[in-house]
Amino acid sequence: MEYDAIILGGGPGGYSTAIRLGQNGKKALLIEENRIGGECLNYGCIPSKAVIELADAVSYLKEMPGVSASVTIDLKKWQEWKWGMINKLTSGVEKLVASYGGEVAKGKGIIESSTSVKIGNETFNAKNIVVATGSIPSRIRGIDDVLYNKEILDVDHIPKSLIVIGGGYIGIELGTAFAKLGCEVTVVEMMAGILPGTDADLSKFVERRMNALGIKIFVGAKVEKVTKSDGYTVNLADGNVLRAELVLMTVGRQPNTQGFGLEKINPEMDGKFIKTDKRKRTSVSGVYAVGDVSGQPMLAHKAFYDAEIAAENISGKIAEVDYRAMPFVIYSDPEIATTGSKTDKFNNIPLATNGRALGMNYNQGVFRIYVDNDYVIKGGAFVAPRASELISEISLAVEAGLTSKDLGMTVHPHPTLSEGVKEAAEATYGKSLHYKSSR
Ligand code: NAI
Repeated sequence: MEYDAIILGGGPGGYSTAIRLGQNGKKALLIEENRIGGECLNYGCIPSKAVIELADAVSYLKEMPGVSASVTIDLKKWQEWKWGMINKLTSGVEKLVASYGGEVAKGKGIIESSTSVKIGNETFNAKNIVVATGSIPSRIRGIDDVLYNKEILDVDHIPKSLIVIGGGYIGIELGTAFAKLGCEVTVVEMMAGILPGTDADLSKFVERRMNALGIKIFVGAKVEKVTKSDGYTVNLADGNVLRAELVLMTVGRQPNTQGFGLEKINPEMDGKFIKTDKRKRTSVSGVYAVGDVSGQPMLAHKAFYDAEIAAENISGKIAEVDYRAMPFVIYSDPEIATTGSKTDKFNNIPLATNGRALGMNYNQGVFRIYVDNDYVIKGGAFVAPRASELISEISLAVEAGLTSKDLGMTVHPHPTLSEGVKEAAEATYGKSLHYKSSR
């Protein structure tokens, strides 16, 4: 039998391609060697946000004025619950693929040609191949035997102490969560500040909060050696010696392009990524690539989007990606969410002017909307609790070409964090109701 498409990799990019193809009446074969849902559902986005929620719940109560709370956490039980939750999600995804007529094959798929893939000795043929093999954690040569995101998310107890190498997305998110759970956390970042790539006037809120939580941060710090013996010893180039029960390595991720026969079809590359055009086609006819393996940003929601575009093209339509309103979220404390592009026309609304936030015992953060000279919304940046949930209003505004006046004249429920969005829109034309800007 010939499939319309064979998809290599069952993560967000792969399984979404299979679902959308099925919805379009196309026959897809989804090949996954590990667990459906990939890194995101099993070892990344979903479990990391679960542990962050646990940590936030604990610290929220502990830090509420007038409250004295002590919490006992049985992490083994919590892990059982977590895996139950993940299993429901992954089996739900698998059923969805099947419900649209897609097939799922477990095993390692090896590309044989632009129209055939082998699992063991069995060959499967298709009109198209979609490479959705994701990414793997970057390693530092010579430093082995440390934990990566997968292992730290599966610990059965809260470590007494943890050194995080790399102060990027994962390091900051998980470092903060473990600190709130009572672990002594140290972050080692080689660049001049944490979260490089994020504007310093946004990341400063996160850095302050991390300091308040007692997290030690070393910046401009190079790790020279990591030794494991009765815990870990980390030697920094400047002579500092750090010790901890565990070491977590979060120094980036790289596209997974090795070990599945890609060289047989030899698509054009863009650095370490498989090069694709706006329709997610590679340079090899009939072969597509989606998600992390196909370029930055390496984010699950970008993979979902790529998948839909690839599936539409395989289904005979013409569709192109447009990343102009791509959200970026760091699930730090407070959360940082951005979307679209920046302009120099904006006015900050401090989170401290938002009654709902104050009632939640939060006052550190900012709402900012970027407009052009005609007040057309180009992007936004929020530092606030649940900024992750609020940012989509700005993505929609960018996609729809709305002006800040459209948004400012939209009634937002009171009291909500979302009022910060409205106020930031009003601030672009100097009429925020609850804050007088000095600019
Ligand atoms: P990252 O690229 O966000 O951060 C890596 C950090 O490690 C950087 O700050 C870098 O300067 C630092 N670094 C590199 N080499 C180092 C060294 N030798 N010593 C000390 N520091 C060093 O990568 P991360 O945190 O591993 O996350 C990987 C990717 O996963 C992200 O880029 C993102 O694409 C994705 N992700 C997205 C999340 C989200 O959307 N909320 C959450 C977690 C991961």
